[in-house]
Amino acid sequence: MRTSPAARIRGRFTLPGDKSISHRLAIFGAMAHGETRLTNFASSADCASTLRCLQALGVKVVRDGGSVVLHGAGPEALQAPAGDLDCGNSGSTLRMLAGLLAGRPFAATLTGDESLRRRPVERVAVPLRAMGARLSSIDDRPPLRVEGGALRPIAWESKVASAQVKTAILLAGLQADGETSVREPASSRDHTERLLPLFGAPIVREGLTVSIRGGASLRSVEMAVPGDVSSAAFLIVAALTRPRSEVRLDGVLLNRGRAAFLDVLKDMGGDIEIEVTSTEAEPVGTIVARSSRLHGIEVPADLVASVIDEVPILAVAGACAEGRFSVSGAAELRVKESDRISALVEGLRAMGASVEERPDGLAIDGGRPLRGAAVRSHGDHRIAMALAVASLSASGDTEIEDAECAAVSFPEFYEVLAEAVA
Ligand code: S3P
Repeated sequence: MRTSPAARIRGRFTLPGDKSISHRLAIFGAMAHGETRLTNFASSADCASTLRCLQALGVKVVRDGGSVVLHGAGPEALQAPAGDLDCGNSGSTLRMLAGLLAGRPFAATLTGDESLRRRPVERVAVPLRAMGARLSSIDDRPPLRVEGGALRPIAWESKVASAQVKTAILLAGLQADGETSVREPASSRDHTERLLPLFGAPIVREGLTVSIRGGASLRSVEMAVPGDVSSAAFLIVAALTRPRSEVRLDGVLLNRGRAAFLDVLKDMGGDIEIEVTSTEAEPVGTIVARSSRLHGIEVPADLVASVIDEVPILAVAGACAEGRFSVSGAAELRVKESDRISALVEGLRAMGASVEERPDGLAIDGGRPLRGAAVRSHGDHRIAMALAVASLSASGDTEIEDAECAAVSFPEFYEVLAEAVA
């Protein structure tokens, strides 16, 4: 896809539902009794993968655009799938469903596309084995075969701060006899802890530990999914980095563990206003971002886990800022949908940025003029969108290989951007 520089970015948008929340509400709804009715469900290909897997497990799912109804009949109603469960590009689908399947008395195999088949799965397999399920991966990679059954509770000390691992253990714990807990080295996103109680699950949070009592029967819920804050990040940085620009995004998720990139951008000098409009299970509100003179910062170590998905777009902000932008302690980026550190270094360097690659992050001496170039997304949605935003500030056109993979999280991205540029 060819993208062009943009004089300015303007507009007011509401975004499709948050991906992390949509995955969870679908899975929890499938485990509940009754009709879980969701509106503004994510349009992302990843969340469609979750719905497809749930259907393959026998759950009736009725979808009409953003409105999704799951007809849950409890975990006991799930059936062995006829074939492999194809999670597409979605690590969340694969890892979270592993936790659900660990408690089911049948075998199922979780697999996905080429990118997903390169990503680590032992991080969920090890604790689920400790709970009594049988799992096998191929050298820490999918396909992941899960033979579930009766589970015993565990107190798990996780080595990685991973919300997918935490969720998998809690979903297995819900099906175990007794209390299961997970302790993380740093807090990962907390949507599972916030949302599962709405379905009636007994969850207790204490510092970095989350516990669940097994055996509860879940009830269905009705919920409107807040706009995806990770998708918002691309439009926000586009507005901050272009002159005479302003975007207003309404109904966006403002969970602290997800919106921390806004603090980083504000620390970089970003003119960003945030107004919280509701605080039910998840805080939601409006974000307004305007053209700003940005300066580089070192991303604070304690924020890295909370901004992990936004590092690609923060790096673009860093390339457009004056001075040095750096992030360390982010080695997890190497096992995301692509090796995001090397993909960013390659793409931004091709566009003329001065980037230093580190084993666990990168540093950018910002402010060098960017030029249009031929760049590669590496099939990674966040790399494609980050480079597209960088191209708005470049001289000349940019050709992004496999830019369409943005549909994994934000299928409307290029349309929204075109509207904001017009
Ligand atoms: C997600 C958790 C994060 C994140 C991913 C979505 C989730 O991964 O990178 O895009 O919805 O739970 P971790 O499991 O490493 O926290």
